[in-house]
Order: sequence, then structure tokens, then C-alpha cells
Amino acid sequence: MTGLRRVVLEPNSPWGSLAVLVTLAVATGATYKTGGTVNVFPHLFYIPVVLGGYVHGLPGGIAVGVVAGLLCGPLMPRDVAAGIPQPLQSWLIRMAVFTAIGALTGGLSTALRQRIEALGRVNEQTIRAFVQAIDAKDSYTAQHSTKVAEYAVAIARELKLPPERVERIRWAALLHDVGKLAVPEHILNKPDKLTPEEFRVIQQHPVESAKIVALVEQYLPLLDAVRYHHERMDGKGYPDGLRAEEIPLDARILAVADAFDAMTSDRAYRPRLPLEEALRRLQEGKGTQWDPRIVDALVRWVEGGGLGGEALEPAAEGGFPRLAAEG
Ligand SMILES: [Fe+2]
Repeated sequence: MTGLRRVVLEPNSPWGSLAVLVTLAVATGATYKTGGTVNVFPHLFYIPVVLGGYVHGLPGGIAVGVVAGLLCGPLMPRDVAAGIPQPLQSWLIRMAVFTAIGALTGGLSTALRQRIEALGRVNEQTIRAFVQAIDAKDSYTAQHSTKVAEYAVAIARELKLPPERVERIRWAALLHDVGKLAVPEHILNKPDKLTPEEFRVIQQHPVESAKIVALVEQYLPLLDAVRYHHERMDGKGYPDGLRAEEIPLDARILAVADAFDAMTSDRAYRPRLPLEEALRRLQEGKGTQWDPRIVDALVRWVEGGGLGGEALEPAAEGGFPRLAAEG
């Protein structure tokens, strides 16, 4: 979420509170300097009143309405030059109007936020349902999408990507293999070597994933990561044979997270690899299969104890053959 959106959408944001205080001060100063409420400037108080309601909800709207009513009432002359104070009735009416507008804005703002939160929950639950469907298709890849999401998020944080980008990568990771729903189970779970035709079917799963993701407008930003998560730095990946920087960063992150989970999980065709060996294979694939910067980020995270275990000694370079395309 950008700074501006944070101010606008987050309830009780300190920046929002600051904006309320500044606009209250500006309205008070401008009204006084221009001679009192006899002039048009009291209307400036509507700005902090509406802001107060928007940022702090119903209580905030009412509170700022009352404060604005006081600043613009007993504390503000009607005519500064002539020294005429506010008539009681007029400032009370003005305060009531400010408070009502603050309350209305606050109530609407709270309702809007609740609606947005509910939509967010539906979205999260929809993705979780998808993920269960994907992972349930192959017992060997149970939890795969969830673990890839965990590793991808860890890498994105190591790379110091902004929180909203990290969140996008998490969602893309959760959905990256949704296209496997279109792959027959006997191919997915085949313990023997795949035939060229079967491999071609498997290679279509990122395309199928992208097609499914594209059906939901809100998921469109995830499209590149999902479609290109099996591309390789040397251009020998699939489905489009993109190379190096042509592969979107999110997809390069998913590729490393995906391969790491594939290597450290039991599969139909082989048992899991020891952690140190998986890390060495990733190191050896730097520059050919994976983006070196991203492999380094994952290795840093793992060596720093990110998997929840003891911190590891740094992995040695090379020494193991690269894995064929997995994940
Ligand atoms: Fe995949």
C-alpha cells in the first residue's frame, strides 16, 4: 500500500490525524486572519471535520465536529475588527452541523472499511479453497503451494521489496500451480520418467494457471508470476523460453521458492534431498536456471534460521548436478 493509500484507507492512521490537526489549524488561522466568521472562511472547517470522520470513524467525526464548532464558535469572534463575539445560537447551530457531517462521514467510512475487509476475507478464502483443490490433487505435493508462498515471501522480504509487492508475490505463489487441475492425475503422480507427450502436457500447466488467474480481474497483477514461474535464466525454461531480465522478478522469485520446496519434499519419483544438498543445487543453478540474487536471498534466509531450525553453516558452491524442471 502506498503512503497516500495508507493515509486514505487505514483507520486511525497517524498521518490522517496530522492532516486533521493541520487543516483545523489552517481553518482557524484563516478564519481569524480574514476578520472572523462574518466572512466565508468558516467553511474551511468542513475539511478537518470530513477528514476526522474518514480517518477515525464515527467517534472521530463527532469529536472533530465539536472541536471545530468550538474553534469557530466561542473561541472565534464574529467580527475581529469590530470585536463582536459569536451569538450563542449561531455557533451552536454551526457546531451541530459540523458534528452531523462528521458523524455521517465517520459512519460511512466505517461501513466502507468493514465492506473492504469483508471482501478481503472472501478473496483470501477463495484463494485458500483453490489452493486446497490444487494440493489435494497430488498427495506428494500437499502443502506445496503454502510452502512455496512461505519461501517466496521470505525471499521478497530479504530483497527488501515493499509490503504490497510481498503480498502480491504471496498470492501468486499460492495460485502458481492452479493450472495443474487441468493435468490428468496419472501424469502428475507418475513415478516413472514422463513421455515427451506427458511432459508437454505438464509444461502447459503455467499457461493453464495464467488462464484461470486471468478470469478474476483482481488477480491480473499475479498473471506474469504465475505464467512464467518455470522460465529459466538461460532461456531453456517453459512455456515461452524467456531469459534473464525478460522474466518478471516475481516469477524469478517463485521459480527459486518452487524449486526449493520441490527439492526438499518427497516426490512420486524420488525422496526429498537433504537441506544442504538442496541449497548447493540452487547455488550451482545460479545464472543458468535461477537468478543469482534471488538464490542468495533464499540461502541467506535459510542460513539465518528462517526455516525455524538452527542457523546453518553457509553452503558450499557447486558440486551437484542441476535438477530437471520441477515443481
Ligand atoms: Fe509449477
